[in-house]
Amino acid sequence: MQRAIYPGSFDPVTNGHLDIIERGCKLFDEIIIGILVNPDKQPFFTVEERQEMLNDVIKSINHRQCTVRVDSFSGLLVNYAVAQQASVIVRGIRAISDYEYELQMALMNRRLEPGIETVFMMPAEIYSYVSSRLVKEVFHLGGDISGLVPPLVEKRMKEKLNQR
Ligand code: PNS
Repeated sequence: MQRAIYPGSFDPVTNGHLDIIERGCKLFDEIIIGILVNPDKQPFFTVEERQEMLNDVIKSINHRQCTVRVDSFSGLLVNYAVAQQASVIVRGIRAISDYEYELQMALMNRRLEPGIETVFMMPAEIYSYVSSRLVKEVFHLGGDISGLVPPLVEKRMKEKLNQR
């Protein structure tokens, strides 16, 4: 039984994230999507909203081979992984520019908890430039984000903007 944590902010979840989850499902029996509760950041969506959206959108991806669960955590990622009895942390790497920071985190996490391995996965090339940060920027400036996030997420972003 191989359980992996896929941690992140997911503010909001993008098609790149979903692509990684689908790919991870071919490797692991269970993936727990761990949304970081970060009091220092001012997110677009609340953790509860992100959790709800993730629960909705994972229904549409192909993860028959494994179980996918959505959860949130605060504090050290490795402590959360141990508490969840997960042996792997999955991180998506889009370009070499991601690698430096991801390597630092992976090595720090290894130092903190040598029993947990970080596995880097590459999304499909069509998502290699997609990030939650850029999606939000383009959206707020009136650009087209269709195809970058699931339709439900785009809808929620529009609703959220109208509420403000
Ligand atoms: O989607 P993100 O924002 O790139 O995800 C970053 C995340 C959540 C993986 C990272 O910030 C994290 O693990 N935070 C938890 C606190 C922690 O363990 N910090 C030490 C990391 S070496």
